[in-house]
Amino acid sequence: MARWTQAALLLMCFCAGSCEDALPEFATETVINTVVQDSQTGRVYLGAVNAVYQLDSALVQERVTITGPKRDSRQCTPPISQTCADPKLTDNVNKLLLVHEANGSLVVCGSLFKGLCSLLNLSNIDEQVYYNDAKGEKTYVASIEETVSVVGVMSTFPKNGEQLSVFLVGKGYGSQDSAKLVSTRILQDYRDWVVFENIVEASAVQANPFVLKFLHNFRHAFKDDGFVYFLFSRTRGGTDNKNFTFVSRLCEGDPHYYSYTELQLNCGPGNAYNKVRSAYVASPGEELAQPHRRGDARTRLVQGQGAVPRTRSCSPC
Ligand SMILES: *[C@@H]1O[C@H](CO)[C@@H](O)[C@H](O)[C@H]1NC(C)=O
Ligand SMILES: *[C@@H]1O[C@H](CO)[C@@H](O)[C@H](O)[C@H]1NC(C)=O
Ligand SMILES: *[C@@H]1O[C@H](CO)[C@@H](O)[C@H](O)[C@H]1NC(C)=O
Repeated sequence: MARWTQAALLLMCFCAGSCEDALPEFATETVINTVVQDSQTGRVYLGAVNAVYQLDSALVQERVTITGPKRDSRQCTPPISQTCADPKLTDNVNKLLLVHEANGSLVVCGSLFKGLCSLLNLSNIDEQVYYNDAKGEKTYVASIEETVSVVGVMSTFPKNGEQLSVFLVGKGYGSQDSAKLVSTRILQDYRDWVVFENIVEASAVQANPFVLKFLHNFRHAFKDDGFVYFLFSRTRGGTDNKNFTFVSRLCEGDPHYYSYTELQLNCGPGNAYNKVRSAYVASPGEELAQPHRRGDARTRLVQGQGAVPRTRSCSPC
């Protein structure tokens, strides 16, 4: 299941005394799939169905850009031309938003046109900074299937003494998508590479049979201390279909993903909370850090569990 959360976003408010003022709130007409904040400006961007919103830090709308529906067909290769047999008006599920600070742009990947991405101006998302639908399969990033979840994180990739801007993507299996579970997407043209092309070939996490069998459901991606982490659930590839939650890790800038490792997270008695729904990275408070203290207090992953009212914590140990 994709993250079909309600189409409303609440901003947490920490008040010294009583919290009588209403929390800022912003509602959209369509479902919100993904949210990202620019830490420099405080702006919040919402990836909804057929629209991307630009809000200020108090959740007041600055801009909205309409990204769908558009004429598309799963069978056709973009750009959709006269030769495409039966294009239909298709919703654009905006699945992935990332702030590309160095470029002043927002990376936006939707479900239209094989999951192509574009770059929009961070201070005015109506202005398209980059879009090219003619570069072929290597530039398809997200999934055309509404329910396939996609997560990503900005990073850099060392090449010939340069640090190239890239983003890493974790994506579940969609029957008509590329079969890459994890990919590294470049954000500039560089030699033979074009913007959004996958620049790492690593069979261990990109092979078709592997992805199909395990029903990966990505929930979160983040960076910490030179590593990139993905949080997801998947089955063990057997027939029972039971899901387990994993955190996987690889070194930032590992050009072959040789450092890729996975660790299962068991939550609750008998692993009752076996499927991760959402996650947030925070520093542990004193109590949470206590049983796991090993020298310094480290970043702790907090794993939210769907309908369970109180947040539970998981730690890889
Ligand atoms: C975004 O828009 C601002 C204001 O119009 C402009 O100054 C800036 O150069 C634009 N950035 C990009 C990446 O196009
Ligand atoms: C942002 O990136 C795009 C795609 O690589 C490029 O065309 C554009 O010139 C860049 N703009 C800036 C301001 O770096
Ligand atoms: C495990 O998760 C997948 C997708 O996230 C779902 O299709 C499947 O039904 C789940 N299995 C069980 C037993 O709930």
